[in-house]
Amino acid sequence: ARLPEANPYWQGPADELPAAINSCTRCPLYSPATQAVPGEGPTDADLMIVGEQPGDQEDLVGRPFVGPAGQLFDQLAAETGLPREAAYVTNAVKHFKFMPRGRKRLHQRPNGSEIRHCQVWLRAELDLVQPKLILALGATAVEALLGSGKDILQRRGTIEHRTDGTPVLITLHPSYLLRVPDPHLRAQATEDLRADLRVAADWLV
Ligand code: URA
Repeated sequence: ARLPEANPYWQGPADELPAAINSCTRCPLYSPATQAVPGEGPTDADLMIVGEQPGDQEDLVGRPFVGPAGQLFDQLAAETGLPREAAYVTNAVKHFKFMPRGRKRLHQRPNGSEIRHCQVWLRAELDLVQPKLILALGATAVEALLGSGKDILQRRGTIEHRTDGTPVLITLHPSYLLRVPDPHLRAQATEDLRADLRVAADWLV
């Protein structure tokens, strides 16, 4: 079947946005997922945090960043004085993409088409919140927000701008920290993410 046009503009009322996201069938990811996971947090937040997509636990609970990556993020945010509850927290892609393996569901990265089909929702959330700063966690968020997610390790810690001028602070995804096998690299990546969270925290004061 032909997929709908990649990026039309959603113009419903703000309080209907979560339900609209939940009934999305624009790409095939909705079908095996339990539910969509819309963003959460104050809609007048100065800071919007964008991750990749819901993980296994987020898919079951219906809230962003509640699983292992979310717990690590919360810990680092607390250490660096970044109040998560003051931010609007969302994902570039709203459904969990996975491969069944026995009783497990193994995370798979969303592809460019899935990211583009989901942009209508990210765009609607951006229009609603109009953040002063966006914190992009990892390559998928950076691709969705800035067009390319390449060279993330070189670009992290820098601010790039969306075409409307909104600044995007590029940083690492917390699940990257959970995957790096080398302890020294992991410590360095953790310190890098901490440094970026401090920069984001400074925007809030
Ligand atoms: N990883 C993400 O990018 N987002 C979540 O909500 C959970 C894990």
